[in-house]
Amino acid sequence: MKSKKGMLITFEGGEGCGKSTHANLLKDYLENKGFEVFVVREPGGTKTGEKLRQILLEEKSKISPFTELLIFLASRRELVVKVIEPTLREGKIVICDRFMDSTVAYQGYGRGIDITLINKLNNMVVGKKAFPKLTFVLDTDKHLGFKLKGEDRIEVENESFHKKVRKGYLEIAKQNPKRVKLIKVEGEIADIQKKIREIVEKHLHIE
Ligand code: TMP
Repeated sequence: MKSKKGMLITFEGGEGCGKSTHANLLKDYLENKGFEVFVVREPGGTKTGEKLRQILLEEKSKISPFTELLIFLASRRELVVKVIEPTLREGKIVICDRFMDSTVAYQGYGRGIDITLINKLNNMVVGKKAFPKLTFVLDTDKHLGFKLKGEDRIEVENESFHKKVRKGYLEIAKQNPKRVKLIKVEGEIADIQKKIREIVEKHLHIE
């Protein structure tokens, strides 16, 4: 087992972009290289967070955009304090399936809430210790052009909403080139995962 400084890696992107698949493939790869890795998801990842996830994603929940924002942030704060910070302190790698950039893309670009305000709140909630070192934005438009049939209240938003979310992610990647790496979802899963691993290897100095 390698003893390393803890590191937070996040996966981001629109619906059905494959981030959960790639997060788990990266976990397997890093564990094979001797790292201790913990995968979490947002919203959720804690007892309270999973309850908040239900409120957020249940199609019948009628909540205002600002309430939605605050609940996402509440779920994030629980995850940061109860899981991410302690796990990083133990020197492990944390991979988070969605994190603060989702809020900028969905509540900011998607819902139209002020992005400067979201950035401020995100910084307060995440803090310096749990700030991601590396973020992969998986970009695809394959879910656009038809109504998503999922059960999730946000997933079933219309196409124009999801287009704005995608534009948001592209902006986030452009504005944070050191941290945020844009990965086009095209071709085989193995080829996409190879690109991700190459970037992670550089960060972790793995041969
Ligand atoms: P998931 O399907 O990847 O688990 O994500 C749940 C949904 O929540 C997805 O539609 C994106 C949305 N979401 C936001 O709108 N804002 C956020 O801050 C987060 C973390 C997720």
